[in-house]
Amino acid sequence: MHAKKLRSSRLHEHCTVYTMKVALSEHHGGDEDELRQSAAVNFKRVATIAPAAILLAAIPLCLLLLLLASSPVQPQDYPAVQAMGDQNGSPEEPGAAAWAAVPVAGEKKCDVFRGKWVYRPDAPAYYTNETCHAISDQQNCMKFGRPDAEFLKWRWEPDGCKLPWFAAAEFMETTRGKSIAFVGDSLGRNHMQSLLCLLSSVDEPEDISLRYTTDYNFKRWYFPNHNLTLATFWAPFLVRTTDARGGQTLEGILTLHLDEPHPSWSAEIGAFHHVIVSAGQWFYRPLIYYRNGRLLGCSACGRENATEVSRFQAYRMALRTALKAVMERKDREGGITFLRTFSPAHFEDGDWTDGGSCPRTRPLASHEKKLEGDDLEFYLAQVEEFLEAERRAREVGLKIRLLGTTRAMLLRPDGHPNRQCNWPRSNVGRADCVHWCLPGPIDTWNELLLYVMKSDRGVKFAQ
Ligand SMILES: *[C@@H]1O[C@H](CO)[C@@H](O)[C@H](O)[C@H]1NC(C)=O
Ligand SMILES: *[C@@H]1O[C@H](CO)[C@@H](O)[C@H](O)[C@H]1NC(C)=O
Ligand SMILES: *[C@@H]1O[C@H](CO)[C@@H](O)[C@H](O)[C@H]1NC(C)=O
Repeated sequence: MHAKKLRSSRLHEHCTVYTMKVALSEHHGGDEDELRQSAAVNFKRVATIAPAAILLAAIPLCLLLLLLASSPVQPQDYPAVQAMGDQNGSPEEPGAAAWAAVPVAGEKKCDVFRGKWVYRPDAPAYYTNETCHAISDQQNCMKFGRPDAEFLKWRWEPDGCKLPWFAAAEFMETTRGKSIAFVGDSLGRNHMQSLLCLLSSVDEPEDISLRYTTDYNFKRWYFPNHNLTLATFWAPFLVRTTDARGGQTLEGILTLHLDEPHPSWSAEIGAFHHVIVSAGQWFYRPLIYYRNGRLLGCSACGRENATEVSRFQAYRMALRTALKAVMERKDREGGITFLRTFSPAHFEDGDWTDGGSCPRTRPLASHEKKLEGDDLEFYLAQVEEFLEAERRAREVGLKIRLLGTTRAMLLRPDGHPNRQCNWPRSNVGRADCVHWCLPGPIDTWNELLLYVMKSDRGVKFAQ
């Protein structure tokens, strides 16, 4: 137990250093102050400041560190899953009960989030690292020497129906004159970059971020011929965070105000037509929680006398707050709120600090990998909060949809940059098994996005 604690605090230190490096190298972001404060304890340790873009790549590793340092799940910490419907998953798929709740969109009542990866070696590529100019080095697997291209030859095929190819022109017509915001962590950015690449075949996007901020975490792109804007809002906790020191709490621990959306996105979200909310992994950090201005408790905070709050429970509250704020945005007429579900990581043979990697070159079949552990907990939290938000939305005539990407991505350990990415120097040799290569299986998220946007039949649930 002591060893575990030690390990945990060592890992947290790493994380803090990374966070602070980012804070130091970003002088204009809205989060700068709080990042700086949260990391102030380690200020002197940062000797070298590399370019922000490269340092940002370290953030996700932080998540993994904390992920790996986290304590085991305590099932009594979160509510029972009553809303899930079908509990009769087939024996080879113990997670099946969870999947039963994903929405069934379109006339055929096809659950596009349930299916398998099928080898389609002749499938044409949507784009390459030469045709899309928006691929960041962190996800440019080809440029950094990924030796195989086999991982590009698999297509997601839902059970019992076909998922149409992503049609860029059609997407553009569907969203002409609109704006789409991605709110969440770096996986939301990864998602947006895939969409940028998919759309750049019909309209070359302009990076207009500097009109708003120089903070790399907040990007905006504009497609001039279609008057379409895409934006990312970096809010890994979704809700307002403050430095937790304040004389009463421990250094390096963030405080989350679980009932207040983070102003970095909530102040701007009113202008966006569609909004895609994600996030989750950052809840592995040591965190202190407030609600209604009162201390609720903390998770992984190392305080013997503090009420332990399940990070999944805290995540649910944050998600509920975020979804409520998003749905109350001004320009919601016909706009859709999406909740994109948890994106699993795939480290094997260790974690990222001791040589863990994701060297596989083929997808898994569904019987080879089940949704379990923390991946399942985050997923269930999302589905339950989605169901609740969907119920509220229906009462007032708003649209919210689930983008259930978890199942598909769980089966793609071969889709990450692994060691083929441009890490900061301190991470050379370490593997990224969290983000997704571009091009790669993450492009499927946008096939699903277009599919769901086009289906105007509302959300139905499998029996
Ligand atoms: C694209 O990938 C190839 C290797 O497949 C590499 O030689 C080239 O430099 C990359 N180009 C860009 C612009 O990333
Ligand atoms: C572009 O779209 C915005 C809404 O996103 C709208 O307010 C504006 O009038 C549009 N501009 C043109 C030139 O159509
Ligand atoms: C809880 O423990 C911290 C130190 O771990 C201490 O500063 C604080 O006063 C304690 N609070 C209570 C209510 O005992």
